[in-house]
Parts: sequence; structure tokens; C-alpha cells
Amino acid sequence: MSESSNSSGGGLSPGDELRVALENASLDTLAVRAGQRRSPEGEHSEAIYTTSSYVFANAAEAAARFSGELAGNVYSRYTNPTVRNFEERIAALEGAEQAVATSSGMAAILSTCLALLKSGDHVVCSRDVFGTTTVLLNKFLAKFGVSSSMVPLSDLSAWKAAIRPETKLLFLETPSNPLCEVGDLTALSTLAKETNTLLVVDNCLCTPALQRPFEFGADIVIHSATKYLDGQGRCLGGVALGRAELMDEVLGFVRSAGPTMSPFNAWVFLKGLETLRLRMDAHSANAMELALWLNEQAAVEKVFYAGLEDHVGHALAKQQQRAFGGVLSFRVKGDREQAWHVIDKTRILSLTANLGDAKTTIVHPATTTHGRLNAQEKVDGGISENLIRVAVGLEAIDDIKADLQRGLDTV
Ligand SMILES: Cc1ncc(COP(=O)(O)O)c(C=O)c1O
Repeated sequence: MSESSNSSGGGLSPGDELRVALENASLDTLAVRAGQRRSPEGEHSEAIYTTSSYVFANAAEAAARFSGELAGNVYSRYTNPTVRNFEERIAALEGAEQAVATSSGMAAILSTCLALLKSGDHVVCSRDVFGTTTVLLNKFLAKFGVSSSMVPLSDLSAWKAAIRPETKLLFLETPSNPLCEVGDLTALSTLAKETNTLLVVDNCLCTPALQRPFEFGADIVIHSATKYLDGQGRCLGGVALGRAELMDEVLGFVRSAGPTMSPFNAWVFLKGLETLRLRMDAHSANAMELALWLNEQAAVEKVFYAGLEDHVGHALAKQQQRAFGGVLSFRVKGDREQAWHVIDKTRILSLTANLGDAKTTIVHPATTTHGRLNAQEKVDGGISENLIRVAVGLEAIDDIKADLQRGLDTV
């Protein structure tokens, strides 16, 4: 069915009619429908616009588009129909006014920081964020006069104590990776408002299918689309979301600096979003079953998963999340040797640092994802030598258990 044949013939364009019809739609509908504008070709699946620039009807239109007087595409470094389609869909799912897509999750974090911070500003960041985020803040942004303080995710008094007059951003991920600690989004957003700072939440592990940080008062949400938004480990991408006044600044940075999402990747993420909730529910169900099973294994010392009732963040996670997600970790009885043994005995699981894939991944955080931390930082962050992280995929759970059992039974 072409766009025009789906139109009522009223004053609105078919794209605008769709937007009005979706105003009160549920998350499941938005995930499949939001943001699409069909071309006159009437394509059913979203089109991929692989073009770097756009033509104008005449010189006056070119001038008006360049000056921003006339809306429309100019150049794909900052506007592209497929990328806009992805931005509108993820904005609808997160409940954000505006989204800005980027070439990777790190590019979304960098673009947000460079757009909203200046020399002399200060960031308070959870100690338990993705390691590269810490490097970006402590090594690279520090070179430009932006300082950072790292605090334990769930210690509210440490967040309060770290805030200074020049603090501009509070940055966290919840739940944390790999120990599934949970940050209190309501308390931190109240603190951000009291201190005139912005609360930035990397929602990569939950996605809007499980947690919507704006509902708890967050100002900005970040994603590595590379993870669950894609869901099959194919593409790098990222996105920042928030109020238009903030996102206009981020878009201005992307327009000037060029960490732009490619139209092909935007299309892959659009397709990923269509199945996001189904996948997140399946990841969560598999992870829950694996956590309960690991808890009963003689060779396992401790399991970290917020879905377990004895996990320190369980009650808070239940308030903030619809389910507990696909990432868990556990300590094997013993040391590095025993942890490596369990990892090396697997045959189905992929030994790789990525997460958010249909394929289950396994990794030894102390020597890979968290290998850059010094000994004290590892102790403070709970990254012990006997810790293993599993990002549970969509395989049959009994096959995942059997793959881990081979090593656990022979530790
Ligand atoms: C929580 C989180 N945020 C951000 C990133 C960075 O994303 P990307 O690899 O797309 O740059 C990652 C990557 O692993 C991540 O796990």
C-alpha cells in the first residue's frame, strides 16, 4: 500500500496522519511503526537512503535550506531520512522530545559531553560505567579542562559529596556491568535538580523495553545501539536523547564534527527496534533461569543478577525495570585458573566482550573488559579474578547450562 493510498485525503500529509494516530499508541506499536515516512514508491519496509547530499529545486530553495529557514535535507552528515526514521522511533520509545544518532555509543557520549561542557566544568560519574567511558572522561576530556570524579553507583552520599559548583553532569549506567548494581534514578534526578546539574543515563543494558529513565526524571539518555537495539551484533551506532534545547546542541556538534550514523546502520537498528521488547523479554527470561541454576551449582560461589531476591539492588530494580535484562555475572569457587577453566570448556558460548546479541557471550572481566583497572580499583569495583560475565542470548537455556556445566563440573 503506498503512502498516498493510506491517507484520508484531509489536510495532513500521510506521515503526519501516522504521527497523530500513534500519539497514544503502546510501546509495541511505536517500536514497529514510529517515524516511518513512505516515499512515493510506496515501499512497505523502510527505505535506505544512501546519499551524501540532496538536490534543491532552485537557488533560492538551496539558500533557504542552508540557512535553516526552510526545513529539509541538506547533507547526510546531519540529516538523512533513514537516520531520522531511527531517531524518531527510538525517541518515541524512550519518551524523548528529540534524538540525535551517532556512529557509535562512545560517539554519543563524546558528542553529549563536547556539546554541553566547557573547560573548567566537572562531571560526577558512576565508578561502575563501561571502562571506555571512564577513559574518555579521565584521559581525553581532562586534556580540555573538564575534570571528573568517580563515585560508587549506589552510594547517594558519595554523589552528593562529589558535586561542586562547577559540576554540570551526573553520569551513570543502571544496572551496572558486570555486577548488576542498581542506581536510584529518582534520588539522583532529585539531586540533579537541586544542584542544577543534568542527569545522564546510559540505558544500554535495559533499553526502553525494560526501563525508561525519563519517567524517573533523567535529562539525557544515551544508548550504544551496537548492543540490544541491533540485537544481532552487526553494526556500530549510538544515540543521545532528551529535550530539544539540549539535543539541538548535540546535533550542532555532530553537524560540525561528523560522528554521524550511516543510513545502512540506521536501517539495521530500525529493524532491531521492531523486535526489541520480544527479545528483551526472552533475554531476561533466559538470564533469570540461568541465574537460578548457577545459584545451585556447587562450583559457584556467588551469582550477581538483580532478578535474584537476595541481590542488593533487587527491590530498586523492580521499581525501575520491567524485567532484569540479559547480563549476569558469577564467581567460581577458586581463582583466575578456575574461572578461565569454565570459560575455556564452553563450546557454544562465544568468548567475546560484546553483549546484547542473540548469541550468548562469556568473558573474564578482570583480564579483558576491566583489565585496565589497577588492583585497588578492581577490589573497589568487585572485579575479582574468579568473576565471569555472561550476556545471555536467545539459545535454548538448557544448551547454555550444559555448555557451562562442562567446566563447572570439572573445576
Ligand atoms: C554500557 C555501554 N555504554 C557504551 C558503550 C560504547 O558503545 P559502542 O561500542 O557502540 O561505542 C558500551 C560498549 O560496550 C557499553 O557497554
